Amino acid sequence: MSKDQFQTSGHFPHIRLRRMRANQQMRDLIRETELNLNDLVMPLFIKYGQDRKDPISSMPGLFQFSLDKLANEIRELRSLGVQSVLLFGIPEHKDALASDSYDANGIVQRAIQIVKDVAPEMLVMADVCCCEYTDHGHCGVIEEFRGTKDVHNDKTLEIIAKQAISFAKSGADIIAPSGSIDGQVAAARYGLDSEGFHQLPILSYSIKYASSLYGPFRQAAEGAPKFGDRKTYQMDPANGMEALREVELDLLEGADMLMVKPAQAYLDVIFRVKQKFPHVPLGAYHVSGEFSMIKAAAEKGWIDGNKVALEVLTGIKRAGADFIINYFTKELAKDLG
Ligand code: PBG
Ligand code: ZN
Repeated sequence: MSKDQFQTSGHFPHIRLRRMRANQQMRDLIRETELNLNDLVMPLFIKYGQDRKDPISSMPGLFQFSLDKLANEIRELRSLGVQSVLLFGIPEHKDALASDSYDANGIVQRAIQIVKDVAPEMLVMADVCCCEYTDHGHCGVIEEFRGTKDVHNDKTLEIIAKQAISFAKSGADIIAPSGSIDGQVAAARYGLDSEGFHQLPILSYSIKYASSLYGPFRQAAEGAPKFGDRKTYQMDPANGMEALREVELDLLEGADMLMVKPAQAYLDVIFRVKQKFPHVPLGAYHVSGEFSMIKAAAEKGWIDGNKVALEVLTGIKRAGADFIINYFTKELAKDLG
C-alpha cells in the first residue's frame, strides 16, 4: 500500500492507540482510574450472643460476629490495611419502635466502642435505620392510613435523631441515615447539633432504590419486612431524574456526603450525580445481591470472582464514585494493599 492511499482515509496510520497498550508498565502509566484500599469500606454484621462467628449462607465468606469476636476481626482488618467499616447490628430484642437502636448499651453502640478501643484510627460509619430493630422489619414507625399500614414519616424522624445522637455518643465518625425517610438528613443534623456534635459528618443514603438486590443482606441483618415491601419509601428503579432531586434536597438539609445504592445497575445515576455535583463527595454501595451474584458464579467456576470484583469496583469508580461500600473489601485488601 502506498502512503497516498492513507491520506484520504483519516488519521491512520499516524495515530495508533495500541502503541500505548504494549506492556503493563505502559498501561499503568496512562491508567485513568485507580482503585485504592482507602476508598473501600467493609460492612460488618454484629449479632447478640457470645462466641459467635456465624457464616452467612447467602454471602459466602462473610459472618455475623458477636461482640466478643469483633475485636479480633477489627485487628485483622487493620493489619490488612482496611481503614473504614460500616456497622450493622442485630439486637436480641425487637419491638415496634426500634427502642434498642438508641439504647446507650445497644449492640451497635457497644460495637462502635470496641472498634474505637482496638483501632482508634479506624473510621466507623454507623447506619441509621430501624429495620434491624423493629419486629415488623420496616424502616420506621408503622401506622395505618386509610386502611393501609405504612411507615409514618415524621414519627420515624424522631427515632432517627435519637439514633444519630446515640451512635455519636458511642464514638461513630460518620452518621449514615439509610431509611429513605423524607427529612432524615435534617433530623440527624438537628439531633447531632443539639448535642454538640457539629463536627460529625452525615453520609446520606440519598439515592436508595427499592431493589431486589438487598435479599442476602436482609438475611444477614435479619431485617426483612414481615409484610408489604419498601416501595413507599425507597426509590423506583426506573427513575433517574428523581435521583437528582433527592440529592438537591439532601444537600439543602446538610448532607456532607452522598450515596447511590445499589451501584452496578445504577452507574448512570452515579455518573449523573457526579457530573451535576462534582464538588460533593460521593459514595456508592455495591450491595449484597451484587456481591452474592459474583460469588455464586465464581463458585461454579464460571468467572474469576476477585478479578470480576476488581473490574466492577473500578467501573463504579470510573462512573464517578469517590468511595465504595462493598463486601469484597477484606478479600481484596491483600491485592490492593
Ligand atoms: C437498611 C439497609 C439495607 C441495606 C443497607 N441498609 C436493606 C434494606 O433497605 O432492606 C442493604 C445493603 C445490602 O444489600 O448490602 N435500610
Ligand atoms: Zn432500613
